[in-house]
Amino acid sequence: MTKSIVPAKLNESNDKLILLDQTLLPESEKYLELDTKEGVWEAIKRLSVRGAPAIGIAAAYGLYVCLNKVETDSVAELEKEMKEVSDYLATSRPTAVNLFWALKRMEKRFEQEKAEDKNVEAIKAALLEESDEILKEDQEMDIAIGEHALTLLEPGMGLLTHCNAGGLATSGYGTAEAPMYLGYDKGYDFKIYADETRPLLQGARITAFELYKAGLDVTVITDNMAAQVMKEGKIDAVLVGSDRIAANGDAANKIGTLGVAILAKEYGIPMYFLAPTSTIDLETPTGDDIEIELRDPEEIRNGFGRRTAPKEVKAYNPAFDVTPTKYITAIITEKGIVEAPFKENIEKLFKD
Ligand code: MRU
Repeated sequence: MTKSIVPAKLNESNDKLILLDQTLLPESEKYLELDTKEGVWEAIKRLSVRGAPAIGIAAAYGLYVCLNKVETDSVAELEKEMKEVSDYLATSRPTAVNLFWALKRMEKRFEQEKAEDKNVEAIKAALLEESDEILKEDQEMDIAIGEHALTLLEPGMGLLTHCNAGGLATSGYGTAEAPMYLGYDKGYDFKIYADETRPLLQGARITAFELYKAGLDVTVITDNMAAQVMKEGKIDAVLVGSDRIAANGDAANKIGTLGVAILAKEYGIPMYFLAPTSTIDLETPTGDDIEIELRDPEEIRNGFGRRTAPKEVKAYNPAFDVTPTKYITAIITEKGIVEAPFKENIEKLFKD
């Protein structure tokens, strides 16, 4: 299967960041063309590009595009600009660690080139190369994650997923969706259930859109139907992505994931988190240390332009929750499958 839509890439002349505006899906496929730090920040903030790995890729390309425009012969001046743009983009969303990971990686590459006395043009070329590598590695990691996950799955299984951890959240097959695509190619005939994922409906608008478009068997359910669907025996495994995995294995993902994990444990269904190792943050000791993004209450009170709660009523809108390891069966990365004890096995994964 070839993936037709890449959520974040450069235009042909490498001077604009092209983003599929995911806020408009599934109604229309429109692209944004950005070349300012404010434009890239805004696109990440309002979820035109979303999903942890895709945010990282967009930030890396966004940083490059902004620096490429800087007219200077001074490496020091370019470096100052890089720090400013990078610090600014890092304030767009707090939870997905891939944003900070990608920006740090670009900064590190800058430092390496500077240490080798490269001039401005050579540094710009290296930053372009680095962002291309981030994208390419992401595509390769998706395949590896999918292949590891397939070893845990069998043909005909019912799979539940939450939010969108598919191709539109990465640059390839996605994380949680990678085994679905790879299984499809092998004729596995999975029956996939996609939670709609309130309040912004990434499951209904994006997961259902991309899986249906690719010909997979996908059924949308509202978030409050997960228990019933599990009770009816329709779900054999839950596959979700993650925005940040702490060093002890606690995993942040879209709000609602924790509830699904608790249900899965009750019904004896394996709960898998699929993510690249760039999502594992060894500097975050436990899930309690993960900053949870709080979003505008209007997303709840005014869903998609329609009044969905009284205008003045209080609404609370955390965008993510953290699933503690006691509810996690395994974390599936491109380097392999991690099971309990998670802290020790995550350490081993990085040492190996
Ligand atoms: O708010 P979003 O749409 O960026 O949230 C996305 C998720 O929670 C995904 O499940 C997660 O980033 C994993 S993406 C491979």
